[in-house]
Amino acid sequence: MASRRAPVKSARRQRPGVFAGGASGTLTGMEFLAQKQIVLGVSGGIAAYKSAELVRLLKGAAARVRVVMTPAAREFVGARTFQALSGEPVWCEWGDDRTAMEHIELARWADRVLVAPATADTLARLAQGRADDLLAAVCLASERPLAVAPAMNQAMWRNPATVDNVGLLRRRGVEVWGPAEGEQACGEVGPGRMLEPAELVRRLSDSFSRGALAGVRVLVSAGPTREPVDPVRYLSNRSSGKMGYAVAAAAREAGAAVTLVSGPVALEPPPGVRVLRVETAAAMLEAVQAQLAEGCDIYIGAAAVADYRPAAPAADKIKKKAEAMQLALEPVTDILATVARSEPRPFCVGFAAETGDLMAWAQRKRMSKGVELIAANPVDGGRGFDHDDNELLLVWEGGSKRLERTSKTRLARQLVDEIAVRYADATTSQGNHAEHSA
Ligand code: C5P
Repeated sequence: MASRRAPVKSARRQRPGVFAGGASGTLTGMEFLAQKQIVLGVSGGIAAYKSAELVRLLKGAAARVRVVMTPAAREFVGARTFQALSGEPVWCEWGDDRTAMEHIELARWADRVLVAPATADTLARLAQGRADDLLAAVCLASERPLAVAPAMNQAMWRNPATVDNVGLLRRRGVEVWGPAEGEQACGEVGPGRMLEPAELVRRLSDSFSRGALAGVRVLVSAGPTREPVDPVRYLSNRSSGKMGYAVAAAAREAGAAVTLVSGPVALEPPPGVRVLRVETAAAMLEAVQAQLAEGCDIYIGAAAVADYRPAAPAADKIKKKAEAMQLALEPVTDILATVARSEPRPFCVGFAAETGDLMAWAQRKRMSKGVELIAANPVDGGRGFDHDDNELLLVWEGGSKRLERTSKTRLARQLVDEIAVRYADATTSQGNHAEHSA
């Protein structure tokens, strides 16, 4: 039966921007760089001074960095600066003994080669496949991914010669990062500024991620909510948040920009994930809606949100009395269903803790909430909550899949892999639909 949900609107619209700052101190977006070996090529432009900061950030992310400078680069920054920051020798030109084959050794050592800044001349020489200085030779000898961060005067960037060179490099699989637009050292305004070091580091880091959700903005809710009865008491549930946190970590591993809206839990924020802490269901709804307004491609509702809350929480502590007391409860807004009805809406994934016929309940819940995917887990006899392992039945329109009992970390990775496949299907069919109706 066809679902009546609105089509997924958001595809990979733009690079996520959640890495540059945020609510949690763990927000780095650089966690894939640890122990990675980066050859940083620096060519001769004024932006070379920013490459010093680039080396500092890469070292801060526990990467190893070897800097190769072109002769022109040394007109702008001294080799000693890079040597001090990288803690490695700096290569400027061929050694006296060319049989040392420094270019081959550096090319083999590198997991990635990044040329930043890449001047118009360097791009031209890379496009020609030249090997007449050490940096060009390393780029030619490297079998690892090569990225360039162009930096030059705007007219040089727009010149057809540069446009052709960049097009040729792109066709050969070279990643061209930037340039940004703005005021230039020469006083002109336009495209040609090197991307900021933090952005280059984030892109390098992302290039090492598992990648199925690279560039996708994922919002996860996790943990319980607390609904106040009075200033010292609340209604809550046994959710530990472990599954939601594992899902957020797995989505980040898959390259997504992840924001986690978390109820009160005793868990460390996953590396590289932005965490927004809330207590009540109302605060969770507000935080989720604020994130949707910023842009979100996939929403994963893993929180155990209260279904009811005290209708009138007392301002003062309720005093104990001998007789029984009644607590009036009112229903809480369903966050997942609200997100699924929003416009534009993300691809929506819900969780369902069920007893009895899991498949039937999961199908019903998927339809009633209007979401693409439900991950249902059995909770008969206390299974599921506050345990380190779990099992899931995934249900989507026209299909289902069982994920066997395993650790929540492994299960979350399998779930994220499945979400990535379904999300890609949804965005592709959306794209096809647009083409056919165009
Ligand atoms: O209706 P039920 O609570 O069983 O549905 C569970 C799913 O709905 C979970 O994904 C949960 O995060 C979400 N939910 C919600 N807001 C509520 C109640 C549940 O988003 N008020």
